[in-house]
Amino acid sequence: MKEQLQQTQNQAESAIKDAHSMQELQEIRVKYLGKKGELTAALRGMKDLSNEERPKIGKIVNEVRANIENALETAMTEVKQKEKNIRLSNETIDVTMPGKEVEIGHKHPLTGVLDEIKNIFIGMGFKIAEGPEVETVYNNFDALNAPKNHPARGMSDTFYINDEILLRTQTSPVQIRTMKKAKPPIKVISPGRCFRYDTPDATHSPMFHQIEGLVIDKNITMSDLKGTLNLFAKQLFGENTKTKFRPHHFPFTEPSAEIDVTCFKCQGEGCRVCKGSGWIEILGAGMVHPNVLRECGIDPEEYSGFAFGMGLDRITMLKYGVEDIRLFFENDMRFIEQF
Ligand code: DAH
Repeated sequence: MKEQLQQTQNQAESAIKDAHSMQELQEIRVKYLGKKGELTAALRGMKDLSNEERPKIGKIVNEVRANIENALETAMTEVKQKEKNIRLSNETIDVTMPGKEVEIGHKHPLTGVLDEIKNIFIGMGFKIAEGPEVETVYNNFDALNAPKNHPARGMSDTFYINDEILLRTQTSPVQIRTMKKAKPPIKVISPGRCFRYDTPDATHSPMFHQIEGLVIDKNITMSDLKGTLNLFAKQLFGENTKTKFRPHHFPFTEPSAEIDVTCFKCQGEGCRVCKGSGWIEILGAGMVHPNVLRECGIDPEEYSGFAFGMGLDRITMLKYGVEDIRLFFENDMRFIEQF
């Protein structure tokens, strides 16, 4: 019995020595010390011993048990330490390694130029007005003094939802909404998307962007319009920029003008961007028509004002030399990343 116990201890100890993981050590504990383990079996066999032998063997069983337990304890501490070391070395971070580059996005070219334009007008005391892209025919045409037979009203130019609703073809209806809501003085710009039934090509997109401007107060004259737009052109295109007002016609302004700026590429010399003329057309403008003021409940004898509208896409194309408007809307990163 004594030798057998000694042998059990030896076996257990050598198994412990060979074990490399917590799991193996747990298995050894079960095998030798568990309920169905070898030492428990030995204890059970003690009932067959003589009274004299029983305490002696009992003592040895306890010693063997304590030895195996100690050996297990020591081995487990070692294995735990080893496993921890392995984990730590696996988690080691080389702080000298270059980090992963974080790509920070940037504004879409249209958003960038729009922000520039907004800031210029905000600097002159303008507020931003907003209007819906789905508009009434009344706000988009009738209230803007567009005669019933105006070519722009045709099915060929306008996306009609029904007889009374359309996708706005210009930001000018925001003028109507603004004047009907607020009393003068009014000084707003209104950027937004517009829609026209155009086949896409290099200079046409069925969806495009305009920025509308409206100023209404007492004694507003054409010279206020000129001063405002001259300052705007200088700030956007450079201090040496000159403007030229050419007579034109819009239903909602009288008089009306188209405004050209000296080419910012060649400073008026004539180049590819300005097609040799030295001038680039950038917006339409004029003095708000008395019919429009009256329609919005503003007395044209008391108040006057000016309005202007420009194409954001066109200005951005000119500014960056983009030759196809469709590039703005294709979301091709090879294009977008160039700005
Ligand atoms: N709405 C015009 C267009 O789409 C642009 C325009 C011209 C707006 C003159 C104005 C203006 O406010 O006064 O062609």
